[in-house]
Amino acid sequence: MGASSAVQWGILGTGSINERFLRHVREAPDAEFVAVGSRTPERAAEFASRYGIPRSFGSYEEMLADPAIEAVYICLPNSLHHHWTMQALAAGKHVLCEKPYSRRASDVVEAFDAAEASGLLLMEGFMWRHTPQARRFMEVLPEIGPIRAIHASFSFRLEDPADVRMQADLDGGSLMDVGCYCISGSRMVAGSDPERVYGEQVTPTGGVDVRFTGVLGFGDGLTSTIVSGFQSDHASLEAIGRDGALLLREPWTARPPAMWLGDLKIPIEPEDPYRLEVENFSAAIRGHGRPLLGRADALGQAQTIEALYRSAATGAPVMLDSPLGVRA
Ligand SMILES: NC(=O)c1ccc[n+]([C@@H]2O[C@H](COP(=O)([O-])OP(=O)(O)OC[C@H]3O[C@@H](n4cnc5c(N)ncnc54)[C@H](OP(=O)(O)O)[C@@H]3O)[C@@H](O)[C@H]2O)c1
Repeated sequence: MGASSAVQWGILGTGSINERFLRHVREAPDAEFVAVGSRTPERAAEFASRYGIPRSFGSYEEMLADPAIEAVYICLPNSLHHHWTMQALAAGKHVLCEKPYSRRASDVVEAFDAAEASGLLLMEGFMWRHTPQARRFMEVLPEIGPIRAIHASFSFRLEDPADVRMQADLDGGSLMDVGCYCISGSRMVAGSDPERVYGEQVTPTGGVDVRFTGVLGFGDGLTSTIVSGFQSDHASLEAIGRDGALLLREPWTARPPAMWLGDLKIPIEPEDPYRLEVENFSAAIRGHGRPLLGRADALGQAQTIEALYRSAATGAPVMLDSPLGVRA
């Protein structure tokens, strides 16, 4: 532990998410961002000076070897999440890993087994779940009666073929990048994991899915439709109940919060989701409370992603077996 009682954090990766992530996280009382690791010393030093971070390392291994670092924020391309989480856990660090943790449920099991065996904490970085908006949504939900259907969408226009999201070998794709939020929202509203999924994707030859549409069946006739893509701009989470509908227009970023119960706008205070996420995880490291999202949530996410991709590849619905199996 550092001299301060605040959790000493290191960042792995110097990517664009940090523009948003670092804007308010340093207001979190229990967290201090003290180091950054990059594949090159120049990029690490430039990043450290831009964001006022005291130590920079020219490789991920070197940063993980710093004994003063207690927790690591992993914001690398998707295909590297699991490998570097395992390395960080092996180095004795708690890990907050960006979403989606992985498209393979077995990775999630391996990582949480390793964390638990070492008494370390691991959380998947779905910052939207930490917002007052998400909490309020679940508080108001009973007002619409029994839920009959869910709809979740997240798409934005991405035209840069060099973006990590466009690289198949880095586990890019719209379902991975933004569709994972739709799965997260649907699972939150349903209160369970889907039992059955069906997916269709639009994938240019050799590329990633630039559009993905899925149906998640939760049992008792409750279904969610999810729509993700890189070719339009849209975001919503809607629960349709017997007695009405509850809608979030900016569910994932909460910029600004926007919730409607039918035609009634429900006021919600804006708060920075990344700061709330870091506060939650840092407090849990210090023994105050638990991480909001744990093994069950990360496993439900990865199982659903895995099953959706399998369905889109085969053209057939896929049943999900607990706790790990996905079968056609
Ligand atoms: N929660 C959110 O709101 C949110 C928003 C955006 C992104 N994300 C997640 O954050 C992660 C990173 O996204 P990003 O937009 O920050 O990506 P990005 O701008 O492309 O940055 C990725 C970083 O990873 C490192 N890296 C290591 N190997 C790489 C490789 N083979 N190709 C490219 N970069 C490599 C690079 O840092 P060095 O070269 O310095 O090592 C690079 O700066 C993704 O998992 C994404 O899903 C989350």
